[in-house]
Amino acid sequence: MQKSLFIVLEGGDAAGTTTHSHLLKGFLEGKGFKVHLTQEPSQSKIGKLLREFLKNKDIPPTTDALLFAADRNLHYKIEIKNKLEEGFIVISDRYIESSIVYQSIQSHEISVEWVKEINKFVGLPDITIILDIDPKIALARKEDEDLEKFEDTSFLDKVRNLYLQRAKQEGYYIISSDAIIEFVQEKIQKIIIDKLKNMS
Ligand code: TYD
Repeated sequence: MQKSLFIVLEGGDAAGTTTHSHLLKGFLEGKGFKVHLTQEPSQSKIGKLLREFLKNKDIPPTTDALLFAADRNLHYKIEIKNKLEEGFIVISDRYIESSIVYQSIQSHEISVEWVKEINKFVGLPDITIILDIDPKIALARKEDEDLEKFEDTSFLDKVRNLYLQRAKQEGYYIISSDAIIEFVQEKIQKIIIDKLKNMS
């Protein structure tokens, strides 16, 4: 029976988590694995509300933090956990580390410890990969009018630095996303294949 594996791709806005999650799913399915791809904010009603709030600068950061935690709690308990139990490889485009990084930077009221506390009811990933890119390069890929509230360079510089700091503390993988997509994807695939080999 296939062993389950919970993989999370993280990074600043436009770092490529969505593109690489899809490519990774295709790669692993091509190898014969059952793969479930998901993302946060999730598809639930809470996730949809969060997507609206991403366009609204008046929402208090503490409200965002609590809603992201509620969305994740539901997402894990009714979707991710079940898929893992069924033996799927689950790939999530963003997860708890997005809350730790984005919400703690949003407000001095919010500490990393508090974000961990409100997220303590969910299972943690087996592998977290941080896609690292200079926000100026990342945002140049987006149209100005489409930008959400976190998509400004000085905020994303802080996001980048905290992701790198957290990766060192927690032993997450860091991959530079400032290269051609195929090259970045190959590096991600290698990490996952090595992990799967070690499990068998
Ligand atoms: P993103 O992957 O950028 O969505 P899209 O590709 O549709 O733009 O994620 C949405 C934003 O939400 C992104 O700016 C990061 C932010 N976010 C948080 O602040 N906290 C969280 O816990 C999560 C999951 C996302």
